[in-house]
Amino acid sequence: MDSSALFLFFMLCFSCSSFCASEMLLLPLKHSISPTQFNSTHHLLKSTSSRSAARFHHQRRLRHRHVSLPLSPGSDYTLSFNLGSHPPQPITLYMDTGSDLVWFPCAPFECILCEGKPNPSLHTRPPNISRSVVVSCKSPACSAAHTSASSSDLCAMARCPLENIETSDCSSYSCPPFYYAYADGSLVARLYSDTLAVSPSSGALFLKNFTFGCAHTTLGEPTGVAGFGRGLISLPAQLASFSPQLGNQFSYCLVSHSFDQQRVRHPSPLIIGRSDEKENIDSGSNEFVYTSMIENPKHPYFYCVGLMGISVGNSTIPASKMLSRVDEEGNGGMVVDSGTTFTMLPASLYNSVVAEFNGRVGRVHERAGEVEDKTGLGPCYFSEKKKTVEIPTVTLHFVGNNSSVVLPRKNYFYEFLYGGDGAKEKRNVGCLMLMNGGDEAESDGGPGATLGNYQQQGFEVVYDLENQRVGFARRQCASLWDKLNSK
Ligand SMILES: *[C@@H]1O[C@H](CO)[C@@H](O)[C@H](O)[C@H]1NC(C)=O
Ligand SMILES: *[C@@H]1O[C@H](CO)[C@@H](O)[C@H](O)[C@H]1NC(C)=O
Ligand SMILES: *[C@@H]1O[C@H](CO)[C@@H](O)[C@H](O)[C@H]1NC(C)=O
Ligand SMILES: *[C@@H]1O[C@H](CO)[C@@H](O)[C@H](O)[C@H]1NC(C)=O
Ligand SMILES: *[C@@H]1O[C@H](CO)[C@@H](O)[C@H](O)[C@H]1NC(C)=O
Ligand SMILES: *[C@@H]1O[C@H](CO)[C@@H](O)[C@H](O)[C@H]1NC(C)=O
Repeated sequence: MDSSALFLFFMLCFSCSSFCASEMLLLPLKHSISPTQFNSTHHLLKSTSSRSAARFHHQRRLRHRHVSLPLSPGSDYTLSFNLGSHPPQPITLYMDTGSDLVWFPCAPFECILCEGKPNPSLHTRPPNISRSVVVSCKSPACSAAHTSASSSDLCAMARCPLENIETSDCSSYSCPPFYYAYADGSLVARLYSDTLAVSPSSGALFLKNFTFGCAHTTLGEPTGVAGFGRGLISLPAQLASFSPQLGNQFSYCLVSHSFDQQRVRHPSPLIIGRSDEKENIDSGSNEFVYTSMIENPKHPYFYCVGLMGISVGNSTIPASKMLSRVDEEGNGGMVVDSGTTFTMLPASLYNSVVAEFNGRVGRVHERAGEVEDKTGLGPCYFSEKKKTVEIPTVTLHFVGNNSSVVLPRKNYFYEFLYGGDGAKEKRNVGCLMLMNGGDEAESDGGPGATLGNYQQQGFEVVYDLENQRVGFARRQCASLWDKLNSK
């Protein structure tokens, strides 16, 4: 395993005056899509857009299901850890703010129907958990993994006798296995605890009694997930309880990637905890734009925010009410998700944005319908060589004062060379990178929209649980990585 992939930076802030989280942990997020798996950009785009749609539709169907981890795992960005210490066993997991559990495959491991699935953990063997400790049915983590089922129920399932349940004496009975369904796969796992090391070398941080799910069999899920959602057993929650100095927040800054083949990628900084902001960020750099998190009674691990509208150039399209709030059934709002690639909008808003966009761009440039069919994105336009397509700015207006985020051009318009099947010459083409999530009237409810990681690139996105808000600030993420590392 690449040792730089496990690089860890642990920093102490000695000069705490007023507010100071005093410590922070810097971890590298790796972009996991391997373009070599795809023979052309449009196949990669198609696969990515289909995955975003599948995950979104699965999130919306949830209210008919009783699973606590409903999402297709957060593909795209990965984190590496070591499990146990004799010997340390490397694991690579998808980083996912849309779910709340850390789970991974354990030996012996069988992955059914996993051929052709991207697998960033391909070169590491599933860890042997023979030295890990089984979590008790009485543990709050067991309840959390079982969608808040009561300890008494879980201990009864674990065959703890009634008199022991009544006297709360079931510690030696293990937490029953649980089932998770995803958009395109599923698994059965059990809870264990063991030491999780966030660095292999000396100076590493060892999280003792770290709770995780262990799966010996999955359907279509070759790679585990590090859940960063809200909730007791998510990675940041366990870190915060282990190391309260880290404070109750984390942020990441996704280095812009493109779907170009063979590009060397800088790791994206994942920052857990934060010392004084002003010391760590370039002076004079952008301030955060914040919007409040909205509680979601049905999906408490989601980071939901409210969206008021979207501007295309100087024209602002208001979002329907359901996007600015979450009702008591858990419907509505926008989920900020590291595990979905492209932003999904309800049909009415999406269609208005596209109409406005096309009204400006389509007047000048030829529509590339063939590319739209091939990529699942749109609208797409051809442009002449070396001539940039002029496009209007796109601004997201979140609930709150001063809570508007202007998207950088490359976050919503992707330009690439397209050569259709058998075409002799490639043409410049550009596509709007937002997706239609479908008609809200026909849907079963669930989240109204998802803010995908593609639209979060080039921003530091902070999940501030202390103040219950999500913030966005424009950054050079690669420089931020270098800067934080050089401290
Ligand atoms: C590219 O790969 C896709 C599936 O990954 C396949 O359907 C398609 O035929 C391939 N195209 C070429 C030109 O090889
Ligand atoms: C795990 O390790 C134990 C002891 O080291 C060994 O007995 C067992 O066979 C191993 N299990 C697997 C699945 O490799
Ligand atoms: C951690 O696990 C060990 C057993 O491996 C146990 O003795 C200890 O009490 C646990 N600590 C906490 C804080 O749960
Ligand atoms: C909006 O922008 C377009 C083109 O940039 C311009 O023609 C139009 O007058 C503007 N409308 C308003 C109300 O400012
Ligand atoms: C916006 O600011 C006004 C006054 O400055 C305040 O009354 C209002 O509650 C704020 N709204 C939000 C959503 O923060
Ligand atoms: C919005 O931001 C501007 C400048 O950044 C500031 O002057 C203004 O007071 C802010 N308004 C609110 C309600 O926070």
